[in-house]
Amino acid sequence: MKAIISDIHSNLEALEAVLADIASNNVTEIYCLGDIIGYGPNPRECIDLAMQCQMVLLGNHDQGAMFDPDGFNPPAERAIFWTRQQLESSAENRTKREKRWEFLADRPRTFKEDSLLFVHGSARNPLNEYVFPEDIYNQRKMDRIFALIERYCFQGHTHVPGVFTESLNDDSYQFQSPEDLINATHRLDDRKTMVNVGSVGQPRDANWRACYVLLNGADLTFRRVEYDIETTIRKIHDTPELDNFLGDRLRDGR
Ligand SMILES: [Fe+2]
Repeated sequence: MKAIISDIHSNLEALEAVLADIASNNVTEIYCLGDIIGYGPNPRECIDLAMQCQMVLLGNHDQGAMFDPDGFNPPAERAIFWTRQQLESSAENRTKREKRWEFLADRPRTFKEDSLLFVHGSARNPLNEYVFPEDIYNQRKMDRIFALIERYCFQGHTHVPGVFTESLNDDSYQFQSPEDLINATHRLDDRKTMVNVGSVGQPRDANWRACYVLLNGADLTFRRVEYDIETTIRKIHDTPELDNFLGDRLRDGR
C-alpha cells in the first residue's frame, strides 16, 4: 500500500500526525507531491522528514525558495524569503544545510510508475497549473490535460482533495470530493482519472484536518487526520515574517 501526501507547507504538527497515521496502516511507500515548505513555521524539520519518503516531487514553493519566487502573493513571498533564511542561517552544521539544498535541487517535476503519473500541479504544467473542482466545466482545459494522462494522475497544488473522472458516455467530466464518496473511497476503473490528494499542512476545502491518500491496488481512500493546530498557529503568530492570516486560515481550512 502507498501513501500519497502533498503540500506539507512547513506544518510539522500536521506532518507528524499524518506520518503516525500512515505508520498505523500497512504502507510500504510514501510519495510526496511537493510543496514541502512555504507558509508554515518548520521548514527544516519538514524537509528532514520528507527526505525519508520513497519519492518526492518539486513544488512551486520549493522552487521559490531556491530561485527568485515568481507569481506569489505578498504574504506567500515573504514566507518564502523567511524560509530561505531558515535554510541558510541554520545553527546546524554546514553539511546538514547543504544536504537539504541538494535534496530540493534534485527533485523531479514528474514521476511515472506503470499507469500512474505523479505531478504537483497538472500533467500539462507539472509545477504551476491549478486544477480546481469547477474546472470540470472548462471543457477545453480538461480535454487538454486529460489528453496528456495515460490512465491515472495524482496531483496536489490546489489543496482541494477529490477525484476528477472523464465520462464514458459523453465528453463531460465529473468531480467528487471525499465527502461525495462512500467511506471516502474510490476504485480506479477504466476511466481516465485525476486524483487531487489534498494538503497535509494547509487544507482549503473547509476542513481543517490534514489530508492525504492511501492507495491499495485500485482502491484509494482519503484520510483526514487531526493534529495540534493551535501549536502551529501559535508558532506562525510568533514569527513576525509569517503573516498571522497564514495561521488563522488553518482553523477554517481555507
Ligand atoms: Fe501548495
